[in-house]
Amino acid sequence: MSEPSATPIAILGTGAYAPSRVLTNDDLARTGLNTSDEWIRTRTGISSRHIAAPHEAASDLATAAARAALADAALTPADIDLIIVATLTPDMPMPATATLVQQKLGARPGIPAFDLNAACTGFLYALDTAWAMVASGRHRHALVIGAEKLSTVLDWQDRNTCVLFGDGAGAAIIGHTRNTAAAPPAILGVRLYCAPNPSLLHIPVGGSARPHTPDTYAQRQHYIKMNGREVFKIAVRAMENSAREILEQHHLATTQIDLVIPHQANRRIIEAIAKNLEYPLDRIYINLDRHGNTSAASIPIALDEARRSHRIHPGDITLLLAFGAGLTYGSALVRW
Ligand code: ACO
Repeated sequence: MSEPSATPIAILGTGAYAPSRVLTNDDLARTGLNTSDEWIRTRTGISSRHIAAPHEAASDLATAAARAALADAALTPADIDLIIVATLTPDMPMPATATLVQQKLGARPGIPAFDLNAACTGFLYALDTAWAMVASGRHRHALVIGAEKLSTVLDWQDRNTCVLFGDGAGAAIIGHTRNTAAAPPAILGVRLYCAPNPSLLHIPVGGSARPHTPDTYAQRQHYIKMNGREVFKIAVRAMENSAREILEQHHLATTQIDLVIPHQANRRIIEAIAKNLEYPLDRIYINLDRHGNTSAASIPIALDEARRSHRIHPGDITLLLAFGAGLTYGSALVRW
């Protein structure tokens, strides 16, 4: 048990992992799927995505991202006393993927490790949970990971969904900063929401409501189903509203936000949010062209890339915006 410290709780390090196999839009069109690079690029902004190897599970992607985040924070696995993995593609229904990460990473036995599923908003839900648990004084360094192997829940014959997603993982270390500057790094706030509408975006079969049967396999009911047009409209409104609410709560204007890191689902969703918030598109980090939508991994991968490519500087305030199945959504303000 650690004593509460006077310095704020911040993101102390980030890391990401993208599997080496890159699947381009042209590769997809060559599989016989009735699509084209032109359609996918103009309707979504996606050019390619990473696909995990058969031997790589979500826990492997998560562990690689976690190692990078630990190195970035100059910490070791022994320093971690809480592990949360946000995922909708766990290695298996039980045990939790976080327990597998704990083992693969060589983290201390006896620390809490659990999964959380808020679909594409998962990283923000995990960040808020870790923040609260560290703020309680009972944990010193939390490892928060978003990891997905979505390629295993995609119907590769359904052009409405399979072109949109990819595999990957991103991680962050949460703890009290050692920086004693006047405006030190800090998680300034997180807002989480759910407006329940489960059938717009779901995997209908494979849980306790509808276990697998040979018929459900034949009907391809174990894959992601989505009403893309509806999801698009709600996603814009939800992320825009959660941005406005967190800025208002913290008495910040959009001009005070140095970089927005949104969930990477569709470039047109991001452009609509930028337009509605009157926020410049060139201060929004976009990597969906190379990753597609990696669900819970999307924001932490983007965050790590933005930091490593010097798009985030000391003192900057970033606004994170997420949206996903549930429908969950949320926002976070982070100072660096
Ligand atoms: N290639 C070619 N044609 C296609 C493809 C494709 N990959 N996919 C759909 N089409 C066709 C459709 O069949 C339709 O044809 P029709 O007019 O003959 O019926 C036509 O293109 C237009 O389809 P729309 O659905 O109207 O296309 P839209 O411009 O809305 O784009 C898209 C579809 C990309 C899915 C968009 O609606 C979208 O991005 N929605 C949001 C999705 C999203 O963000 N999901 C993730 C949420 S986060 C999470 O938790 C996972």
